[in-house]
Amino acid sequence: MNNSATSYRINYICLTASIGGLLFGFDTAVISGAINLVKSQFSLNAILEGWLVSSGLVGCIIGVFMTGILSDRIGRKKTMMLAGGMFFLSGIGCSFASSMTPLIAARVIGGIGVGMASVVSPMYIAEFAPANKRGRMIAYYQLAITIGILLAYFSNALLVSFSQNYFENVVFIWFFKEETWRPMFLALSIPSFIFLIMVMNVPESPRWLVSINKREKAKKILNSVRSPLQAAAELQDIENAAIKSIDKKISVLDRSIRLPLIIGIVLAVLQQFSGINAIIYYGPSIFKTAGISSNNALLFQVIIGAVNLLFTFVAIRLVDKYGRKFLLLTGLTGIILSLIFCGFLFYTGHTDNILLLVLILIFIACFAFSLGPVTWILINEIFPTAVRVKAVSICTLALWIAVWIVGQFFPWLLEKEGAAITFWIFAAFSIINFFFSLKIVKETKGKSLEEMEDVFVVPH
Ligand code: BGC
Repeated sequence: MNNSATSYRINYICLTASIGGLLFGFDTAVISGAINLVKSQFSLNAILEGWLVSSGLVGCIIGVFMTGILSDRIGRKKTMMLAGGMFFLSGIGCSFASSMTPLIAARVIGGIGVGMASVVSPMYIAEFAPANKRGRMIAYYQLAITIGILLAYFSNALLVSFSQNYFENVVFIWFFKEETWRPMFLALSIPSFIFLIMVMNVPESPRWLVSINKREKAKKILNSVRSPLQAAAELQDIENAAIKSIDKKISVLDRSIRLPLIIGIVLAVLQQFSGINAIIYYGPSIFKTAGISSNNALLFQVIIGAVNLLFTFVAIRLVDKYGRKFLLLTGLTGIILSLIFCGFLFYTGHTDNILLLVLILIFIACFAFSLGPVTWILINEIFPTAVRVKAVSICTLALWIAVWIVGQFFPWLLEKEGAAITFWIFAAFSIINFFFSLKIVKETKGKSLEEMEDVFVVPH
């Protein structure tokens, strides 16, 4: 294959896998528009409402565990297909749920899809991408998450507006007009179905194939995405690394894996402790606390979503050129400053002006080109193939537990301590992240996954 054909194919493969991120973003965001409608339909009390929101997270944790076991056994491709199937089932299940029990069950299934996709999609991309483009290709996955979040907002808003103004003569009038939360969930089935079909047409990860001794198949696949010379050299590296790890029998509990594991877990948790999801999902209520009219809530959510999406392109362009650490440190500087200043605005009561919106947008923009994509990139590239799935699952699990902690404590913190202290707490965690990234994280730009083992894995 010539250069442009291989580059087209590798882009197609990585973009397909990144749709897992879109489903993850959509599934986690769709609930924000549906929750009030479901609440009034089933007259939910606070406990059931809490269950409905956290059922997705319970599913995520199950999904991450399942992927840790499955994707080494059945391969990355089949695991992605399974994740797609979960999203599809969840969309259908939620939309036809007759009561809370099936609705929560279907949300758990969707959560399992999110958990699975959040491990297998970026890992598959990392294993496929050429070393000099790996950063940008894993950033596609982050881009897809942001598109998924935005799509969910749009689809929710569109369905609400249609249910108020149109849908007079549709057959399932109760479904579209009277119980609009149903089509909101159903919308997830469309991209899930597209994902399923597209994943059927991508090849298996050559690194996984080598790990189960299917060398010839791995060779054929590598030849379709690299020049013949590159393919031969890469296959050799993968095989050498595989032999080395069999000799050393490395396991995820080994001392030699401790450094990358600490880096992955700390980055995952601190990504969430920057407060990103509090701002994405509670943004409108933060503005309300600040005295800004709630009529504009959706508009603000869409602006935040759009800035998040747009600035991910900065990471796509720069991450393989200037490196992971450069983006992390510049982004974190912006994140820390904007959080500290937001805190001051609340502390001094000067929140009723445009400055608050500007600072929040600076925060989002900085997250989008640094902490968002770079966390996923590093988690997925720093582990040796022999322990990659288990180690990535552990880090991703830590990330989801951190999502849960922020979701539980943010509203409480906001009410008890006020917005200023809350912003400063997020700033304090980001300062820790800055020094951790400066001192402990190592640069991985341009290195192959096999070379990475020499950078991070400490010899016995
Ligand atoms: C984070 C998500 C977050 C998203 C926002 C991702 O990197 O892991 O928790 O919702 O970025 O764009």
